[in-house]
Parts: sequence; structure tokens; C-alpha cells
Amino acid sequence: MYKIVKREELSSCVYRFEIEAPLIARARKPGQFVAIRLDEQGERFPLTICDADPLKGTLTLIYQSVGKSTVQFAGLQAGDSILDIVGPLGKPTHIEKFGSVVCIGGGIGVAPVYPIVQGMKRAGNKVISIIGARTKDLLILENEMRAASDALLVTTDDGSYIRKGFVSDVLKEIIARGDKIDLVVAIGPVPMMRVVCNVTREYNLKTMVSLNPIMLDATGMCGVCRVTVGGKTQFACVDGPEFDGHLVDFDELAKRLRTYLTEEKRAMEHYRGSPRCTDLAREALKQEK
Ligand SMILES: Cc1cc2nc3c(=O)[nH]c(=O)nc-3n(C[C@H](O)[C@H](O)[C@H](O)COP(=O)(O)OP(=O)(O)OC[C@H]3O[C@@H](n4cnc5c(N)ncnc54)[C@H](O)[C@@H]3O)c2cc1C
Ligand code: FES
Repeated sequence: MYKIVKREELSSCVYRFEIEAPLIARARKPGQFVAIRLDEQGERFPLTICDADPLKGTLTLIYQSVGKSTVQFAGLQAGDSILDIVGPLGKPTHIEKFGSVVCIGGGIGVAPVYPIVQGMKRAGNKVISIIGARTKDLLILENEMRAASDALLVTTDDGSYIRKGFVSDVLKEIIARGDKIDLVVAIGPVPMMRVVCNVTREYNLKTMVSLNPIMLDATGMCGVCRVTVGGKTQFACVDGPEFDGHLVDFDELAKRLRTYLTEEKRAMEHYRGSPRCTDLAREALKQEK
């Protein structure tokens, strides 16, 4: 069992949890993730290791509650425990001194981009970060990203904070300014990563994306997370999750992410109906008031 030592709500439906997992906290590298299972009836689901404190032996996970498992997770409190956490999984981000790196995080994608920004900075790169969200209330980790980057640019789709537009608009401006860029890292919703890749392809700027297909075993055995990269089948859990964005088949990824919508909806309805979950949700609401 893995104990939750801290729970925080960062924005509407976005939570930061610190969890005791000393072995993973010591071993993890930027870009890696864990697969967690809340209880014996639960499914395994992947979350990026956003941060870790090897001395305290804790992991930080930041996630959005979108369906049955993540909503159930959000109902847990400091002091509660999680049944199992497997990790660190996935290939670590390839980090070296590239020169000037632009790191882009969209929505909840800011959470997985944060450890990469830290790693790129530690390796001696100049890091310009761009973060964006649909609206001000959904923006996360602004202070942390500012502290970890040489420069931070912020955008909101609706213009409710700093500037109106998409992260890709800001990227276009940086490119138009003639700033030297050696690598672009983009993590966020599939449409955002696709647009960023279309922009950078025009300028032949190497672009790395982190893919988020549905995962089941997260060990390369089941094949559920398969993606097509450069015409070849890859398993995001063991060959990724990071890939050359210019080679990714985003149409296929978007289609595969929609495969189980009916089942996911049914699982959520079933979950909401169970007395244990209703109690948890009620408790969570009480704590949040
Ligand atoms: C390597 C990896 C790292 C991830 N890291 C994070 C993270 O740090 N923070 C975070 O919030 N999420 C992260 N995700 C996504 C997270 O795993 C899913 O949101 C979660 O599995 C949804 O489970 P659920 O049962 O709550 O919802 P479900 O009922 O399974 O799904 C609810 C809704 O979310 C969509 N969804 C399901 N799985 C994914 C997915 N993998 N990506 C995008 N949308 C999905 C579904 O299409 C559906 O609309 C990561 C995914 C991968 C593959
Ligand atoms: S999740 Fe099963 S092969 Fe990747």
C-alpha cells in the first residue's frame, strides 16, 4: 500500500497528490510515468511522475479527473492509501545540452512538461516555456514553470489571462522573431500536439511529443497502447511515451482514444451509483468547501 501524504486541488478537477513511494522516487527520471491501481476492483491507469523528493521518498502526481478511476482517486484524502503503484515506467526523456529548447504544455500537459523543463535546464539549456489553458481557472503550475524556465509565456484560449490565443500562436511568434531554437517539446491534448508539429515541420525544427494512448498493462505485453510512428507500430508504454512528433500518426491516435467512450461512460455511471463512491465524493466535497 502507498500512503497519500498530501492532497491539493489546483484548479477545477485538477489535483496534486504527494504519495509515499521511496524506491520509485529515487529511481525516476523526467518523462517517466507510473501505473496505479486504487483498489482490487480498480483498473490500472498511467500518470506521469510530475516531481519526486528522493529524501522524503515521495512522488508528485498531477491529474485531471475525467472518468471513473480519476474521479475515484480525487475522492481520496491525505492519510488514505493506494493499493499499488508500478514504476518508473517508460523511457526517460532524452536530455542533453541541445542549446535552446522551447517546452510547451497545454492544459493538463503542463504537468508532464514540468520535469522535462527542470531536466533541460539542469543540462545547461536555455529553456523558453509556453503554457496555455482554455481559461484562467484551468491554468496550472504557472509559478513552478516560471521558476524552472529562462522565460515563460502564458496564453488562454478565451483571453481571460495574459493573452488570448493558443500556445501554437506564441510559438509562431517566437519563430518569426528569429530566435534560435534547437528543440521543441510539446505535451498536451492530441489536437494541440498535432498543430505544434505542423508549425515546426514547416521550419524543420525537431519536435518531441509525449503520447497518451489508453494503456492496460503498461509493460509492452497487451498491445493496447500501440501507436504508429514513422509507419512502424510502437508501444507507447515501453517504446515511448515520447516520440518524434513529425512521424506520429495523430489521426490514428485520436481515433483509438475514442474507442471505449461508451464503456468509459458506463463505468462512470455505474461508479456514481455505488454507495461507497457517493460517500467518498461527499467527503471530498466537504473537504473542498
Ligand atoms: C504515459 C501517460 C501519462 C499520463 N499522464 C497523465 C498525467 O500526468 N495527468 C493526467 O491528468 N492524465 C495523464 N494521462 C491520462 C490518464 O491516464 C487518463 O486521463 C486516465 O487513464 C483516465 O482514466 P479514467 O478511468 O478516469 O477515465 P476514462 O473513463 O478511462 O476516460 C474518461 C475520458 O478521458 C479520456 N481518456 C482516457 N484515457 C485517456 C488518455 N490516456 N489520454 C487522454 N484522454 C484519455 C477518454 O477518452 C474519456 O473521454 C496519462 C496517460 C498516459 C498514457
Ligand atoms: S499498455 Fe499494454 S502494451 Fe502498452
